[in-house]
Amino acid sequence: MAVQVLSEAQRRKWDSSDDQLFYAEPRFVQHLDEAFRARLTALYRERIPAKAVVLDLMSSWVSHLPDDVIYERVIGHGLNEKELAANKRLDSHWLQNLNLNQEIPLKSESVDAVLIVAGWQYLQYPEAIASELLRITRPGGQLIVSFSNRMFFTKAPQVWADGSDRDHLTYVAEVLMAQGWPKPEIVAEETRAVGWKGLVGGKGDPFFSVIATKAS
Ligand SMILES: C[S@@+](CC[C@H](N)C(=O)[O-])C[C@H]1O[C@@H](n2cnc3c(N)ncnc32)[C@H](O)[C@@H]1O
Repeated sequence: MAVQVLSEAQRRKWDSSDDQLFYAEPRFVQHLDEAFRARLTALYRERIPAKAVVLDLMSSWVSHLPDDVIYERVIGHGLNEKELAANKRLDSHWLQNLNLNQEIPLKSESVDAVLIVAGWQYLQYPEAIASELLRITRPGGQLIVSFSNRMFFTKAPQVWADGSDRDHLTYVAEVLMAQGWPKPEIVAEETRAVGWKGLVGGKGDPFFSVIATKAS
């Protein structure tokens, strides 16, 4: 049983219809700009060893992993079959609405790295998800939760919709630690826009990551 952090009010969202309806049509778009994506791929290159078993939870048609690193297996999860089928990085995938069912259908201690990109902000029961992710992660394995400063506002629970970037970082860390994850590392950085905009000082999407490592 997960340790509850949120109140019922904090779990509420403007659009309470089934999330599966919101994601029924595939969106073959990038949710994050090129600067953010480059930073994320660099972080994955640094942190996730080759031959790791990787789970990209709340995925789409892109996983942001470096193209030249070979992992043992990349498992994907999301809400749209066409997006996941188009994701060339995935060896397998499944669909599951995590706001209806938080049980992750993977064996205990079977994954080396769990990735969530621009997804945590839609979780209404993050405590149960964090607890499940701790169960399926191998000792010494990592959970990397990354996001920027944007969201589909109507689909984000109140706790996220009302919070600042700093609040979001603290909140993710708090939920993880409440379920037994060790204190996570926080990465909070500005990015430089790609191309001429960056050359004249333009900024890209801000980059935030909460990285927790399961005790060995
Ligand atoms: C903004 S997209 C990010 C997709 C992808 N991680 C990326 O980097 O482009 C949000 C994703 O969260 C996932 N998602 C949102 N609500 C969900 C829910 N209730 N249950 C499961 N997944 C959900 C879907 O996979 C959706 O594609």
